[in-house]
Amino acid sequence: MNTTITVNTDQTFGTISRHIYGHFAEHLGRCIYEGIWVGEDSPIPNTRGIRNDVLKALRYLSIPVLRWPGGCFADEYHWKDGIGPRDQRKHMVNTNWGGVVENNHFGTHEFFDLCELLGTEPYICGNVGSGSVQEMQEWVEYMTFDGESPMANWRKANGREKPWKLKYFGVGNENWGCGGNMRPEYYADEYRRYQTYVRNYGDNRIYKIAGGANTDDYSWTETLMREAGQHMDGLSLHYYTVPGGFELKRPAIGFDEAEWFETMQQALRMDELITRHSSIMDQYDPKKRVGLIVDEWGNWFQVEPGTNPGFLYQQNSLRDALVTGLHFHVFHRNCERVHMANIAQTVNVLQAMILTEGAKMLLTPTYHVFEMFKVHQDAEALALVLNTSDYAVGGDSIPQVSASASKRQDGTIDISLCNVDPNSEAPVMLRLRGLMGMPKVSGRLLTHADMNAHNTFEQPETVAPQPFDGVTDITEEGLSAKLPPMSVAVVTLRF
Ligand code: AHR
Repeated sequence: MNTTITVNTDQTFGTISRHIYGHFAEHLGRCIYEGIWVGEDSPIPNTRGIRNDVLKALRYLSIPVLRWPGGCFADEYHWKDGIGPRDQRKHMVNTNWGGVVENNHFGTHEFFDLCELLGTEPYICGNVGSGSVQEMQEWVEYMTFDGESPMANWRKANGREKPWKLKYFGVGNENWGCGGNMRPEYYADEYRRYQTYVRNYGDNRIYKIAGGANTDDYSWTETLMREAGQHMDGLSLHYYTVPGGFELKRPAIGFDEAEWFETMQQALRMDELITRHSSIMDQYDPKKRVGLIVDEWGNWFQVEPGTNPGFLYQQNSLRDALVTGLHFHVFHRNCERVHMANIAQTVNVLQAMILTEGAKMLLTPTYHVFEMFKVHQDAEALALVLNTSDYAVGGDSIPQVSASASKRQDGTIDISLCNVDPNSEAPVMLRLRGLMGMPKVSGRLLTHADMNAHNTFEQPETVAPQPFDGVTDITEEGLSAKLPPMSVAVVTLRF
C-alpha cells in the first residue's frame, strides 16, 4: 500500500517550541570532562577550557536549552564546591557514575560560559536529595541577584559582576529513585517547600520544574499535580528506550532485525506515555499552563566493550537516527503540552550527538537528525492525516511511515518523514491542502543500506545527510516521494 499524507497547510494546532530540541549534559563519564571541558592548558584547541571542535558542532545545532549538572549527579552536587579558583576546589567522589574523582573544575561559571558560547538557555537542576533549602536558595541568589548580598558579592569576587539570566530551574531529579527514594506525597511536600525559596530576583523570572514520573508511574503525576500543581510551571517525565530492559540491555551495534523492531516499538511508546500523563495533567490544569518537560529521553544500550560500565558510553547507528525522528514526531504532535524535551546526553554518554577520543571527534546519526529537523524549531505545527502500511515482525506491527509538518514564519513548509521498515521502500503521496502557489521543493535524506551503519573516528561520514532526490510529480495537488528503507527525510517547500 502507498502511504498518503494530507497536510493541511492552513491549519495549525500549536507552536513547536524550540525547547523540544533541548539537550542534557551531566557529570557522567566523559560528557563534561573530555567531551566538553578539556581545561585551558589542554593541547586540544579550546576557548577558556571548552573544546572548540565540540563547540562549533553544537553551535550548528542551534541548541535552545541545556540541562545541567544532572541527572542523578544533581542530587549529590554541592554548587559551592564548583566556584572560585579551580586549583582550590574540593574534590568529590562521583558515586553514581563509576566512583571517579570529580575535581569540580567545571562549575557554575564554566556552565554559563558554555551556554553563552553556544547561544543556549541554561536549565539548572538543583539538589533536593542531599542538599538543603538554604543551599538551593543561595545558588539562585548567587546566579541571578543584581545587588548587594552575600551571594551576589561572592559571585562578583569570583569574576562575574552582572548576574546571569536563568529561566529554567529543576527542583530535584528522579526523586522517586536516585534523588532520594521518596514517595510522591513526601516529594510533593518537599517540592512545595524547596520551590518557595527559588526566588525571582529583579526581573529574572524562574520557570520551576518539579521532578516528575518515571515512565508509566501515573500515580506520581496524579499526586504531584494534585498536591503541588499550582506551585510549578513544568513537570518532568523520564522515559528511555531500552530494548531488552535495564537488566538485559542489548548492544548498540551488532543487532538484528528483531532488536531493530523492538527499539522502534519501544520508542513509539513515548506517544502513549505523553497522552496518559497529559490526560492526568488536563484534569488539574485544563488550560495546559504546566508544561510536560521530557527532560531525559533516548536510547540506552550496553556500554561499548572495554569501557567503564559507569560511563554509559555507547555507539550510535542509523537505528538511533530513526528513534530520534520518531520521538520528534511524537513531541510535535503533543506540542501543546510538551514544552521542552532534553535528549540524554550531549557528548559521549547514552544517545549522544558527538563522540570524542582524545583530540578526535565525530558526529553521530542522532546529531544529523537534530540538525536536519532544526527547521521545525518554533514553527507552527500543521495538522496532517497519515495513512500508511504496517511494518510487522513476529506477529507485532508498527506504522511503516511517520511524519510531521510545520510552517516557518516566512511561510516555508517543512515535512519530516521516517520509514522504519528495513526491507521496503515507502512510496508516499503527499497531498498539500490549502497551498497558495507552487512551491520550490528540496529535500535532505539520511539513510544507509546497513541497519548497523555508524560513524567511526576512521570513517566519520558513513551515515551523513545527502540531498533527497526521490521527490517527483510536483503539482498544486502535492507531490510524490519514495522513501528508501530505514530512512529519515526532510522535504522543504519554499514559496
Ligand atoms: O542519563 C543518565 C541517568 O538516567 C540520569 O542521571 C538519571 O536521571 C537517569 O536515571
